[in-house]
Amino acid sequence: MLLESLEFLLTPTTPLARKYGFLYSSISLRHRYQRQKKSWLPHLKNCQDVFLETARSLPQRKSVVVMGSAHLHEIPLHLLMDNFDQVTLVDVIHPLKHHLQSKRYSRLKLVTLDLTTALDKLQDLNSLEDLNNLAKKLAGEQLFHFEADLIVSANLLSQLALLPLDAVEKKIKRNLELSEKDVICTQFAETHLKNLKACTGTKLIYSDREVIYRDKNGEVIYTGHYPVNFAGYQKLKEWNWMLAPLKEASKDYSIEMKIEAYKS
Ligand SMILES: C[S@@+](CC[C@H](N)C(=O)[O-])C[C@H]1O[C@@H](n2cnc3c(N)ncnc32)[C@H](O)[C@@H]1O
Repeated sequence: MLLESLEFLLTPTTPLARKYGFLYSSISLRHRYQRQKKSWLPHLKNCQDVFLETARSLPQRKSVVVMGSAHLHEIPLHLLMDNFDQVTLVDVIHPLKHHLQSKRYSRLKLVTLDLTTALDKLQDLNSLEDLNNLAKKLAGEQLFHFEADLIVSANLLSQLALLPLDAVEKKIKRNLELSEKDVICTQFAETHLKNLKACTGTKLIYSDREVIYRDKNGEVIYTGHYPVNFAGYQKLKEWNWMLAPLKEASKDYSIEMKIEAYKS
C-alpha cells in the first residue's frame, strides 16, 4: 500500500494524463497483469513471436519505436534492448520504472504524447456531432511521425476512441448506441493506421479486433467488433487472449479478445 502510494506520487505525469485518469489505469493494468499472468501467457508469447519474427526480417536493427508501450508486458524491455541499439517508448503515461531505466540507459528514450491529439479538445465537445466533426478533422492531419527500423503499435488501436466517447456520453448524459460508437472507433483506428503507414520504417501492429463474453458454461453471450480497413497491411497472425477469466471482471462471465497482427 505504501509502495503504491509512493508510485502514485512519484510517477511523472502530464496534467492531461492526470485529468483523464491514465495514472490510475496504468497502475491497475499492472495489478491485473500480476493477477492474470498465467492466463495471459499465450497472448504474451504470441506478441513476442510476431515482434521477433518481424525484427529478424529487417535489413538492419538500429532503432525501434513502441507506441502504447505501457508496462511492456507484451514485448519486454530486454527483448527490445537485445535486438535494437536505440529504443523509444511512446505513451501518454510511462510507469515509474521506465523513467528510472531511461535515466540509467542512454539507449532508452521516453516520449510522452497523446497519439490522437484529441485529449486536450475533449472539454469543448458538447455533442456526438462535435466528436464526429473532430474525428473527421483529425483524419486529415498528421498526428505523429516516427522514423525507425521498426515501429510497433502495441495493443493501442482499440483504446484511442475510449476517452473521447466517454467525454461525450458524460456531456450528453446518455449512453451512445453501439452503432454510434462504432463509427467513431473506426475513424480513430483508421486515422492511427494512416499515420502509422506514413512513418518511415517497417510497421508492426497488433490489436484486439473482437471481444467475446462467455457465461459460466462457456456459452457465448455477447460479441463486439467494429470495422477497420487494414488496406496496405499484411496480416501476420491472429489469436485469442483470455483477458478476464470468470471472476476477474465478473462472476457471471469471462472476457476474451481476438487479437490480429499486421505488418507493413
Ligand atoms: C492496453 S495498453 C498497451 C499494453 C502494452 N503494449 C503492454 O505491453 O503492456 C494501452 C496503452 O495505450 C496508452 N494510450 C491510450 N490512449 C493513448 C493516446 N491517446 N496516446 C498515447 N497512448 C495512449 C495507454 O496509456 C496504455 O498504456
